[in-house]
Amino acid sequence: MKASIVLLPGDGIGPEITQQARRVLEKVGEVFGHEFTFSSHLIGGIAIDETGNPLPDETVAACRSADAILLGAVGGPKWDDPSAKTRPEAGLLKIRKELGLFANLRPIKLFAELVDASPLKREIIEGTDILFLRELTGGIYFGESGRSGSGADETATQAMVYSVGEVERIVRLAAKAAQGRDNRLTSVDKANVLEPSRLWRQVAARVMAEEFPDVQYDVVLVDAMAMHLINRPADFDVVVTGNMFGDILTDEASMLPGSLGMLPSASLGSDGPGLYEPIHGSAPDIAGKSIANPLATILAAAMLLRHSLSAETEAVAIETAVGKVLAAGLRTADIARGSEAIGTEAMGDAVVQRISK
Ligand code: NAD
Ligand code: IPM
Ligand code: MN
Repeated sequence: MKASIVLLPGDGIGPEITQQARRVLEKVGEVFGHEFTFSSHLIGGIAIDETGNPLPDETVAACRSADAILLGAVGGPKWDDPSAKTRPEAGLLKIRKELGLFANLRPIKLFAELVDASPLKREIIEGTDILFLRELTGGIYFGESGRSGSGADETATQAMVYSVGEVERIVRLAAKAAQGRDNRLTSVDKANVLEPSRLWRQVAARVMAEEFPDVQYDVVLVDAMAMHLINRPADFDVVVTGNMFGDILTDEASMLPGSLGMLPSASLGSDGPGLYEPIHGSAPDIAGKSIANPLATILAAAMLLRHSLSAETEAVAIETAVGKVLAAGLRTADIARGSEAIGTEAMGDAVVQRISK
């Protein structure tokens, strides 16, 4: 197989973790006889610094012609001024929109070896295996926004908009994913308050009744879901929700496996290249120290192989290697919980060494 992979390292720990995932992919190429070619492009704060634009046209063009895209993270205090005319995060939102990546898959899988790295009790988290489908190109993230007035009367608005079609396509995908797993789907909304959530709930119920009567389906309000996630996480199979709720709930859910540094994601559209990234951000507090956990990005590379390159065996080879590394007791600081920790590159090395057929 030949595949061209675009790397978007971005800001903060982005370059450090992307570099390790690239090495792992190179090793997979070597072991399985594939030819992966990589090219790096600008996104985020570094792109603002170098071009004035968080998503240069050149980056979009490179992404469009790639087989898949691997992103580190964007953002940081340097670009955080609320009155700045653009932001690193705008580049990420724009690439998702430009490529039509409406479905963000965020698997919350426990590694048995890490059960004690979780701040939650073993008996609560054991058996947890959730697949979140976060709608990624609609909702409040992309609603019209603006400011008007002045002084104490100045107001800011940001609309939350969902169309029937947008809800249908993400719910269908989630229901199909459920059919391939434990056949259970939970839709999360705030239909007791928000109009877009009421539309979401109606459309989801119709799609499920008409097209997926075999899938066990229920709805939960987002505030209650925040609680259920830490009280009885093992009860959920596939969870589908809107853009902002999905963002928040998955950061919360990252504490089930023990660290944000462990969670990968895949952003997919109906065609074209997928974009793969850790769910965490640029971690400015630890950037440049070579202590970030690269496993989320390495596991994102596994998702890239699985979803964009149809290379399931190779994806499993990465996931198996990560399991072996953890079984060998190797930990970066975020999952070491006070015991001995290794750095970003050493963790990358450890995975590379364990990639085999
Ligand atoms: P963050 O996810 O960057 O960090 C939250 C906490 O988790 C920090 O303490 C950090 O050190 C830790 N952490 C995150 N990833 C880690 C890893 N791989 N290994 C070890 N520890 C890790 O969230 P934040 O601090 O709220 O945001 C920082 C910046 O990142 C902001 O500018 C935000 O907009 C941006 N962000 C970007 C993305 C993305 O590019 N996809 C995602 C989330 C946040
Ligand atoms: C994520 C991030 C992004 C989001 C930001 C950086 C735009 O938090 O990928 O989870 O909110 O989608
Ligand atoms: Mn987030």
